[in-house]
Amino acid sequence: MARASLPKDRQLHDATRLVHEAEARSGYGEMSEAMFLTSGFAYETMEAAEARFDGRDPGFIYSRFSNPTVSTFEKRMIALEGAEAGRATASGMAAVTAAMLCQVKTGDHVVAAKALFGSCRYVVEDLLPRFGVPSTLVDGGDLDQWRAAVRPNTKAFFIETPTNPTLEVYDIEAIAKIAHEAGALLVVDNVFATPILQKPLKLGADVVVYSATKHIDGQGRTLGGMVLGSEKFVMDHLHTFLRQTGPSLSPFNAWTLAKGLETLALRVERMQASAAAIADYLAAHPKITTLSYCGRPDHPQAALVKKQMSGGGTLVAFRVDGGKQEAFRLGNALEVVKISNNLGDAKSILTHPATTTHQRLSPADREAVGIVDATLRLSVGLEHVDDLIEDLDTALKAV
Ligand SMILES: Cc1ncc(COP(=O)(O)O)c(C=O)c1O
Repeated sequence: MARASLPKDRQLHDATRLVHEAEARSGYGEMSEAMFLTSGFAYETMEAAEARFDGRDPGFIYSRFSNPTVSTFEKRMIALEGAEAGRATASGMAAVTAAMLCQVKTGDHVVAAKALFGSCRYVVEDLLPRFGVPSTLVDGGDLDQWRAAVRPNTKAFFIETPTNPTLEVYDIEAIAKIAHEAGALLVVDNVFATPILQKPLKLGADVVVYSATKHIDGQGRTLGGMVLGSEKFVMDHLHTFLRQTGPSLSPFNAWTLAKGLETLALRVERMQASAAAIADYLAAHPKITTLSYCGRPDHPQAALVKKQMSGGGTLVAFRVDGGKQEAFRLGNALEVVKISNNLGDAKSILTHPATTTHQRLSPADREAVGIVDATLRLSVGLEHVDDLIEDLDTALKAV
């Protein structure tokens, strides 16, 4: 049987780990990871089944609990994040919901930044309070507001940084410190930064969540999610919650995501280089009134970006001169860039947050987090950057 382990005495780079971590070959010695598309596992004897269930034999029991292919994806993510433990979920929202619900009970309190992806905001603003867990929403960049929001029963803080879609950046280290002084855990949605460009656990966060649907798949094929943290968090809170409620990742999707991880570093690097060039082009265009890109020196938190991210990322947010009509005109005139609400895809995507991802917020709530009718979000893909700039340039003539 072929060897399937990495050298233990060497510090390997992310790019190497992403290709080889958790290789587990079957008796056939296959090069590409096998896919174990099975819901259950057979036992040789009744006694063997009993031993599996009472924990004497650590093998697989049922794919709602764990599965060899899902486990490969989880191990690759754990190594990339530098986490002690982690569990995969069926989608990013399953990861966010589980990370929050698994650790609170009636009477607890949660604080979150108000600039959140619409569904994440639903979880903290609407869902948790329905079960007796009130939440306070704060301006994530104002540390005094975090301090003031803390109550004796505060159990968790929740942020995404950079934020969706306006790319504000919050100080993970400082917010983690306030959370810990309050006896609470900090949960970070790291989707926009990707695990390549930002490592929240190293900055003091306790739990990191991903929509693996985005850059981790990177080709718009599957939904998936991941929650990562300490062994204690996973075993005390997450493990049983996921096992008993069942938002499990399918082995097929886990296989797709594990293969996606093999090219993640390369894709993020290329998309980021293109995003930086496009941001510079758009910033100089007379029909673009404001632009936010984490890698530009004019980003309002440029120093913080330098401190906690290793690059500017793959997303650009901007406002066209005008309102909804002009934003729609630009979108409708694009030919290479597609109109969609996903991000992190090989295909570049333009999104109008006010009418899609953040439609459920009132106009006032949207404005409070910087989303107006002229706001557009561009997720830069893997097309040649010159073709993307030409597409934008042609479309902007229609505005
Ligand atoms: C920041 C952020 N968090 C969470 C999610 C939810 O992920 P999913 O669609 O995989 O459930 C998304 C996107 O949909 C997102 O952009």
